[in-house]
Amino acid sequence: VRQVEIVPIEGVVRNVAAGSITKRLGIEEGTPLPRTLIEYYYKDDALGDPLISEEHIACFNWASQEELHDIQDMAIRVNDFLVGMFAGVGIRLVDFKLEFGRYEGEIVLADEISPDTCRLWDKETMKKLDKDRFRRDLGGEAEAYQEVARRLGLMPEEGGGAVVDLVSHRLRKGK
Ligand code: TMP
Repeated sequence: VRQVEIVPIEGVVRNVAAGSITKRLGIEEGTPLPRTLIEYYYKDDALGDPLISEEHIACFNWASQEELHDIQDMAIRVNDFLVGMFAGVGIRLVDFKLEFGRYEGEIVLADEISPDTCRLWDKETMKKLDKDRFRRDLGGEAEAYQEVARRLGLMPEEGGGAVVDLVSHRLRKGK
């Protein structure tokens, strides 16, 4: 774990309309977006993390042009990787949130990427396998998170419900 200087913007990457964008723009949930969309939100709890534009980021110097370029590049690369990884286990990556930090002059990813920060839908049934189960009072969030971990090969082979340490799990399995 590295301590970073947090950039005060969150990036949300969307492949499919869900959540706040459906309400803001009146798009039906589940509509595939014509292209991957990156949105920015200003990190301020008191203001409720408002949606901002690149112009706001430049105007208030929350990130330099070069940093913003790195942020966009990273967001697209993370999306490409995660879309493929989840597609391989029958899960659709609807959207996710990223945070960024500065470390030795470079932009790095900060915070976590998990079912708390992503929308993950089963490809066949469209069942929600993420925090929306909690946000929308659907129940079964622990089972959904375990299902994601199981499909990704992060659960113990038999018994037990705990997610195992990925590194030792891989070492044991020799991969
Ligand atoms: P939204 O549709 O509510 O704007 O959320 C977009 C994505 O960002 C969704 O995968 C949930 C994630 N997210 C967080 O991880 N933390 C937050 O505070 C918010 C608002 C969204």
